[in-house]
Amino acid sequence: MVRKSSILLACLLAIFTSCCNSLPLSVHKRWIIDDATGKRVKLHCAHWVAHATPMLAEGLDKSPMNDIAANIAKAGFNCVRLSYATYMFTRYANNTVRDIFHTHDIPGIVSAIEKYNPRVLNMTHLQAYEAVVDALGDHGVMVLIDNHVSLAKWCCANDDQNGFFGDRHFNTSEWLQGLAFIAHHFKGKPNVSNREIFKTLEDGN
Ligand SMILES: *[C@@H]1O[C@H](CO)[C@@H](O)[C@H](O)[C@H]1NC(C)=O
Ligand SMILES: *[C@@H]1O[C@H](CO)[C@@H](O)[C@H](O)[C@H]1NC(C)=O
Ligand SMILES: *[C@@H]1O[C@H](CO)[C@@H](O)[C@H](O)[C@H]1NC(C)=O
Ligand SMILES: *[C@@H]1O[C@H](CO)[C@@H](O)[C@H](O)[C@H]1NC(C)=O
Repeated sequence: MVRKSSILLACLLAIFTSCCNSLPLSVHKRWIIDDATGKRVKLHCAHWVAHATPMLAEGLDKSPMNDIAANIAKAGFNCVRLSYATYMFTRYANNTVRDIFHTHDIPGIVSAIEKYNPRVLNMTHLQAYEAVVDALGDHGVMVLIDNHVSLAKWCCANDDQNGFFGDRHFNTSEWLQGLAFIAHHFKGKPNVSNREIFKTLEDGN
């Protein structure tokens, strides 16, 4: 898993740095730098799990996502590693959060989500993930969109068949499809003005 994570990080950095001079981050030799100022950026990331069975960021049954994002920023983190499972976007992107909870018998969690994050149950998995990215962006927290597993469930054991080439739940083309989808869908986030720059670039293509 460690190896996979570093490869993915390299992939994401490669994607971001090759396509995106409008993103705020760049690399110079071994440093991550802010493109605009040339200053070194140090990532202080918390891990927010969103790759587990419900295919939803954890804790939304406990607090409004905006409060969680605010607390992360207040605790001094400038970044969140927001994990996802490939199938969330290659297979279930358009399924609603409410639907997945219907397949599990946990009505208490459902009403708690309804209480703290009323909009979330009607969202699709993609919309709910994006809402979390945006909430973090609103608090100036950067997001490392982290591919953690393929099948959405808690990980990681050496024999979970869910992490690397040759595993039962690892289809290389679907993994690439997921990475490409994520890179395309989230480029320019959380900086709203960058999104507009991308839109302009795309319109011009
Ligand atoms: C979700 O819907 C969009 C738009 O209809 C479609 O392009 C995409 O393939 C769908 N994704 C999945 C995983 O079904
Ligand atoms: C969610 O959708 C249901 C059924 O489509 C609707 O009755 C309900 O009002 C919606 N809830 C919210 C918070 O939008
Ligand atoms: C892997 O996924 C691709 C499309 O996403 C599919 O065509 C192919 O059959 C899958 N391979 C296996 C071994 O499941
Ligand atoms: C975009 O990011 C820059 C640098 O991080 C920041 O100064 C600016 O306020 C952001 N713009 C918006 C619209 O969020």
